[in-house]
Amino acid sequence: MKAVVITTPGGPEVLQLQEVEDPEYGDDDVLIRVAATALNRADTLQRKGSYPPPKGASPFLGLECSGTAEAVGRNATRWKIGDQVCALLSGGGYAEKVAVPTGQVLPVPAGVSLKDAASFPEVVCTVWSTVFMMSRLSAGETFLIHGGSSGIGTFAIQIAKYLGAKVFVTAGSEEKLAACKDLGADVCINYKSEDFVARVKEETQGKGVDVILDNVGGPYFQRNIDSLKMDGRLFIIGFMGGTVTEVNLQGLLARRLTVQEKGKLHFTPSSCFAHVRITSLSFGNQYQHINPYDLWTIVHLSLDSVHEYGLLPEANTFVSSGELTSLTKIAILYYYAAAGLRNRSTENKALIVSEVEKNVWPAIVAGKVKPVVYKCLPLSEAAEGHRLMESSSHIGKILLVT
Ligand SMILES: NC(=O)c1ccc[n+]([C@@H]2O[C@H](COP(=O)([O-])OP(=O)(O)OC[C@H]3O[C@@H](n4cnc5c(N)ncnc54)[C@H](OP(=O)(O)O)[C@@H]3O)[C@@H](O)[C@H]2O)c1
Repeated sequence: MKAVVITTPGGPEVLQLQEVEDPEYGDDDVLIRVAATALNRADTLQRKGSYPPPKGASPFLGLECSGTAEAVGRNATRWKIGDQVCALLSGGGYAEKVAVPTGQVLPVPAGVSLKDAASFPEVVCTVWSTVFMMSRLSAGETFLIHGGSSGIGTFAIQIAKYLGAKVFVTAGSEEKLAACKDLGADVCINYKSEDFVARVKEETQGKGVDVILDNVGGPYFQRNIDSLKMDGRLFIIGFMGGTVTEVNLQGLLARRLTVQEKGKLHFTPSSCFAHVRITSLSFGNQYQHINPYDLWTIVHLSLDSVHEYGLLPEANTFVSSGELTSLTKIAILYYYAAAGLRNRSTENKALIVSEVEKNVWPAIVAGKVKPVVYKCLPLSEAAEGHRLMESSSHIGKILLVT
């Protein structure tokens, strides 16, 4: 088969379509003949060599695809040859064929073309597992999405509106904000010309929003905390603005805020101030309510993960149990161990995919959530797709078709 190969870590030009071995598939897998795959920001990091595929995953790019079942393993009884499907992948979508565990495969939703179905699995699973399964956004609540015009944002707006939330977005141009408004966003903020904290406060009578989905990270951390209302929840899924920041934790404490992110938070407390280092290379696949007195244990868990998963060397913590007294009223929902959407176990991904099929697929079938496809390119033009994504001029998803 043909696949897009990263010939060496580097710019978009290193992506080349080459002849490679067909993937092997196991008893629990479906072998998909790929119709389309969709780009994600993570692909650009993998191309540069800073986001290696998890152990056992395909070496090729591509976290989602749509296509036709070409073969099914003996335990993949739900599917039959010829079924039109889409799938959440750990890699391998930029190819003519990919093998995927049966629990990560979804039917193409009625009313959506086979090609456009490739735009859904990664963004839907990311948004559903973070905003809804973990941050518990509910009807009647307020929800701020940074990067509203991104692949993630264009889906998040639609599903949050469908489920009854009031949606705020930030984006970097009037054209992008207009697209967000068309998708249903209620409050559209141009972060280049407006202070989003002030606007959020103005629109919420000074209260702030219930949930924030953030892709910027370090530079927004303090401002996100300042934009949350009592019992607010911040979920960080990306670090497009950077990974390190300094933050005043008083707001977390006073307003009982929850901060969740795909990596870890490392506190170096001094009074109510702390330097927060956010490591970007790991994700959580388990969570638990942490009693603040257990924070010391958490630090050790983090350090274990640092060793086990080879996280950034500067991601060390310098907290002694004596210093924890200033944090005794902070309770955080803390994700430990490592595994993002991509690095989660097969069972965990299957759980998210089944929740998505139960909760989101009906909204897509009903036409309440639509694919937002900015451009389709042939697989051989993957480099052009990466250039487009890195220019940030797109709105929604970029597809590669075989
Ligand atoms: N944790 C997970 O499992 C997971 C899964 C999927 C995606 N993600 C993350 O979610 C984010 C969105 O992914 P995507 O694939 O949807 O990306 P995308 O379509 O490429 O969109 C990203 C958008 O972010 C905005 N942006 C870029 N740099 C920015 C900055 N410094 N400050 C503010 N906004 C900035 C840009 O729009 P503007 O013109 O408005 O700036 C850009 O269009 C990425 O950070 C990605 O890594 C995480």
